[in-house]
Amino acid sequence: RDALPSDLHVRPLAVDDYHRGHLEVLKVLSVVNDPGFDAYRAHFESMLPANTSASKGQTYYVISIVSKQTDKVVATGSVFIERKFLRGLGSVGHIEDIAVSKDMQGKKLGLRVIQTLVALSEKAGCYKTILNCSDENIPFYEKCGFKKKENEMAKYA
Ligand code: ACO
Repeated sequence: RDALPSDLHVRPLAVDDYHRGHLEVLKVLSVVNDPGFDAYRAHFESMLPANTSASKGQTYYVISIVSKQTDKVVATGSVFIERKFLRGLGSVGHIEDIAVSKDMQGKKLGLRVIQTLVALSEKAGCYKTILNCSDENIPFYEKCGFKKKENEMAKYA
């Protein structure tokens, strides 16, 4: 693995990342509405209760890469663990919402986010890790070791 620049560190999302620009970073991906800190915290605590861990069947993993210098989130991503009845009651990791802040793109942070999420998925016992992406991001995910399979279908409410 490439070393992360010493100014940066990767860790689980913290509730205080609300104040470190977590939602700002997600704006490179899609529409982000600021729900306010109280609603953000309630959502965080429902998804990421303090007493769950991989061994207790944690479902959601959200990570941040934070700049020590600016104390801002510069990249984020998540994986959730889907439990199945097939494949010997197997699990699948679904990677979602990969975002690197505009000024930090092209510095291998996206690659590091993906490597970290795949490691979490595999540690949770998933037999595969999958994601959906646009055609323009295919080369990035190929560099991360993914291969194109099948098609995405969507039905919006
Ligand atoms: N086309 C071709 N190659 C690419 C592209 C691209 N669009 N993006 C990255 N790469 C290559 C890099 O050149 C690098 O190659 P190298 O190892 O030969 O130098 C390798 O992929 C790793 O790139 P990173 O530097 O880690 O990429 P970055 O940190 O910029 O992260 C990301 C990539 C996540 C796509 C980022 O640019 C971003 O946030 N974009 C906007 C939001 C977005 O599209 N997110 C992904 C949505 S899909 C999902 O969430 C499941």
